[in-house]
Amino acid sequence: MNAAPAPKPGKLVTFEGPEGGGNSTQAAILAGKLRGIGLSVVTTREPGGTPTGEIIRDLLQNDLAREPLCDAAEALLFCASRAQLCRNVLAPALARGEWIVLDRFTDSTLAYQGYGRGFDIGTLRAMNDFATGETRPALTILLDIPAEAGLARAFARSGGGDRIESAPLKFHRRLREGYLALARGEPERFAVVDATATPDAVADAVWQAVKDRLLGGVC
Ligand code: TMP
Repeated sequence: MNAAPAPKPGKLVTFEGPEGGGNSTQAAILAGKLRGIGLSVVTTREPGGTPTGEIIRDLLQNDLAREPLCDAAEALLFCASRAQLCRNVLAPALARGEWIVLDRFTDSTLAYQGYGRGFDIGTLRAMNDFATGETRPALTILLDIPAEAGLARAFARSGGGDRIESAPLKFHRRLREGYLALARGEPERFAVVDATATPDAVADAVWQAVKDRLLGGVC
């Protein structure tokens, strides 16, 4: 008797970008479109996506421990959340042949903790590799928006910034430039989308990129 064929491996699509670019909105729209063409899709986010990761998220964003978080601990906590998500959610889902739409991943650490906080990019890449094991994005959508415009949107939405949103404007400017540099360095993985356009126009550009890069131009 023949064994059942192994499922076709799934694909990981990550959304990245400065504050206010609309990652979560666009991730939800893309997941809906992928499900609409019959794919099985997992949606999740970083930091978070596991019980441990959600507690880490609260530490990172909402000052849960009520003590100033040093920059090194911040970088390690993002990677700890990532390790838990990769082992318990992402790698198993990909092995089952599912697609994953993920709101932030390794490039956030390079942009925010590297270009933003000033940590060495090579060290952060090694930390990312340690956290992720074999899990890599097939496509990364960079929702690009200037720092000022993105922060204005983020603050209007939340009514006041969280710990990271409240960092100085020059931090946000550096990380935006960092994202663009990362995208220039890996043009085959990144698709840069202008996130200042309307949500519908952004969603169309995202879908076009996914069709062109991952679905062989069909649909
Ligand atoms: P968000 O999910 O609402 O975008 O919030 C996540 C915040 O954490 C956002 O300010 C970006 C930041 N972040 C980092 O600084 N480094 C990371 O590695 C990740 C995943 C997020």
